[in-house]
Amino acid sequence: MTERTLLSSFPSYDKLATLAQSAHTPSLKQLFAEDADRAERFRLAAAGLELDYSKQLITQESLAGLLALATEADIAGEIDDLFAGKHINNTEDRPALHMLLRATSSTSSERLKEVESSRALMQTWSQQLRSGAWLGFSDTPITDVVNIGIGGSDLGPRLVTEALQPYQSDVNCHYVANVDPADLQSALLDLNPESTLFIICSKSFRTEETLTNGLAARQWLVNAGASDDDVAKHFVAVTSNIEAAQDFGIKERHCLPMWDWVGGRYSVWSAIGLSCAISIGWDHFAQFLAGAEAMDQHVKSTPLAENMPVLCSLLEVWNCHFLGAGNHVVLPYDNGLRQLPAYLQQLTMESNGKRVNANGALLPYNTGPVLWGSAGTMGQHSFHQLLHQGTLLCPADFVLPLNTHTGMDAQHRRLIANCIAQSRTLMIGRSVDEAEAALLDRGLSVAEAARLAPHLSMPGNRPSNTITMRSLTPATLGALLALYEHRTFCTARLWGINPFDQWGVELGKEIGVQVLEKLENAKAVSSMDASTEKLIDRWRSAQP
Ligand code: F6P
Repeated sequence: MTERTLLSSFPSYDKLATLAQSAHTPSLKQLFAEDADRAERFRLAAAGLELDYSKQLITQESLAGLLALATEADIAGEIDDLFAGKHINNTEDRPALHMLLRATSSTSSERLKEVESSRALMQTWSQQLRSGAWLGFSDTPITDVVNIGIGGSDLGPRLVTEALQPYQSDVNCHYVANVDPADLQSALLDLNPESTLFIICSKSFRTEETLTNGLAARQWLVNAGASDDDVAKHFVAVTSNIEAAQDFGIKERHCLPMWDWVGGRYSVWSAIGLSCAISIGWDHFAQFLAGAEAMDQHVKSTPLAENMPVLCSLLEVWNCHFLGAGNHVVLPYDNGLRQLPAYLQQLTMESNGKRVNANGALLPYNTGPVLWGSAGTMGQHSFHQLLHQGTLLCPADFVLPLNTHTGMDAQHRRLIANCIAQSRTLMIGRSVDEAEAALLDRGLSVAEAARLAPHLSMPGNRPSNTITMRSLTPATLGALLALYEHRTFCTARLWGINPFDQWGVELGKEIGVQVLEKLENAKAVSSMDASTEKLIDRWRSAQP
C-alpha cells in the first residue's frame, strides 16, 4: 500500500487556501457581469447529462488550482487503478469492480462471464414474472414482488423503480427495509400470499433487519396455508452467501450471486437490481446499465478539465474543504427522483464518512460532508428558507430532467421554472436597498420599509450546480448514479480515504445484539452505562 499524501501537502494546496479567502469576492453576480461567456465556459456534457457549474464560487484561477491539485494527487492514476482492479479497498484487501456489472467488455473475462450469466438469469426471471409464467403455490401468476433488504440492498432498487415508474409493467414492486414490523405489515396489507414473490436481497445474508423480515414474510405465507414446498416457490435470494440462503430455506436454483468485489452501496447494477428489471423490463434495465457504462467510459478517457465526475469532485472539495461548507444539498426537480438524496446519503456518507486515511493515519481536516435534500418543489416550502437566508453555506446540486413523462407539459413548466428560479435566487439574492425599494413600491412608509428591509434582504452568492438531462430515462438515470459514484471515489482519493469499507457501522450492530439479550432476559449479565440501563428498565416497565 503506497503512503497516502495529505491533501494539505500537495503544492497547490496553499494557493487554493489563499484563493478560498477571497472566493466570495467578486460575487457571482459580478463574475457573470464581467464574463459574457461564463455560462458556456463552466459547462460540461457527458453521457446524456449536462453540468452547469457556472454558479459555483470559482474563477478561472481557482479552477486551474483545483485541476492542478487533481494532477498532483494523480486522480487520473487513481481512476486507472480503480478500473484495473487494484485492491483499493485495502482494509478488506479487495478491488472495487462495480463498473464490471455494467460492462460489455473487460480484461477480467472470468468475472465478466459470471456477471453475464447472472444477467441472463435476471432476464429470464424478469420475463417469466412479467408474462405471468411464474406461478405461486396455487398456480396463481405472481402479481406482486416484495424486495426485502436494507442499505444498498434496498435504496438503489427502490430509487430506480420509483424513478422509472413510467416504464413499469403490471407486476408491482414493493420495498421493505426497516426492522420495525410496521414496514412489512403495511407492505403486505393488500397483498395476496398466493401471488406474492419475495426477493431477499442481502450480500452477506447476515443482516438482522433483512433476516427478521424474511422470517416474518415466510410465516405470513405459512399462515395462509403454504407448505414448505409452496413457500420455496415464493422466495428468491440475491447473495454472496448461498449457504446461508439455503439454510433459510431458499433453493439454490433460486439464488442469484453477489461478489465480494461489489460494495452494497454500489450494487444496484447487479442482481440486487432484480426488482427493477422486473418492474421496468429487461431491455430498459439494460439501457440503465448502458447509461452507467457511458459514464464509466467518460470518466476513464476524458482529460481532467472536461471530466464531469472529476470536476464535481473538485467542486465538492472546494466547497466543503476550502470554503468550509460541511454539507451538500441535493435537490432533484422530479418527483420520481425523490429518493435520490436518501440513496446518495448512503453512497457518499458510508463511503467518505471517515476520519482516518487509507493508511490508518488520523486526518487533520474534515472529510465527508453531510448530504441532505428532498424533491423540488417540496423543499421550497420548508428548508429553502435556510438556504436563502440562513448562516450556513449549503452548496446545492439541482437535478433537472427537462421533459416529463406525464404528458402534462404546461404543469411541468411550473416545475422547471421553480428549479431555475431557485438557483438564480440563491445566486443573486437581494440587497437591503433593493428590499427597501420593493417595500416602498408596495406602499409602505419609509420607516416601515427601513424596519422590514433587513428581514427581506438575502445575501445571495450561494453556490450551486445544475445537472440537466433531456428526460429521465433508464440511460440518463444510469449515467446520473454513475456520475455520483465516480465523484465520491475521486473525492475520497483527494482526501486519502478508502471509500469502499464501512467499519463504523459494525460496533452498533454488536451492541444491538447485547441490548436485545437484555430485553429478552432481564437476568442477562451486562454492565452498561446508567443511561442505557435506565432506558432498558423504562422499556421493561412499559410492557403490558
Ligand atoms: O450495515 C451497513 C451495510 O453493510 C451496508 O453497507 C449494506 O448495504 C447493508 O448493510 C446491507 O447489507 P447486506 O446486503 O449484506 O444485507
